Amino acid sequence: MLSDYQKKIIELMCKQELLLAKLYEIFADQFPEHKAFWQDLAKDELQHAEWIKKLYQAEEENLTAFSEGKFNPSAMNIYIENIEKTIRRAENKEITLKMAISYTLDFERSLIEKNVFSHFEIIDKKFAGIMTKLESETRRHLKKAEDMMARFR
Ligand SMILES: [Fe+2]
Repeated sequence: MLSDYQKKIIELMCKQELLLAKLYEIFADQFPEHKAFWQDLAKDELQHAEWIKKLYQAEEENLTAFSEGKFNPSAMNIYIENIEKTIRRAENKEITLKMAISYTLDFERSLIEKNVFSHFEIIDKKFAGIMTKLESETRRHLKKAEDMMARFR
């Protein structure tokens, strides 16, 4: 079973991944010289949203998927608003290549620093891999963004 609050958490986490995918797709279009870099990130984010959606299966299967622990919905809402604001700026062509790399770095780093994926306690082992995978994938994204940034210093 999932509580309404848990469903809300899953929804926010999915939204976060889908918005990052959207932002990276815009960057892929706007900076064709680094198209593959952002397309790969965008593709990964879509995959992450699919993994998160697997938590909904707990509802049908009557499993206790996770405990919400220290999850902070208002922090996540602020994070989501920041991505939305950045998408609007990118759509208005207000973002340079260097800024785009810097935003990518900030967004990925913030997920790690705020421990977004480790605030949960996964209870049913069926779901155990999901948060671990999300965390390690986000660390990989952070590293990619850092390497890209290093080329611009
Ligand atoms: Fe992600």
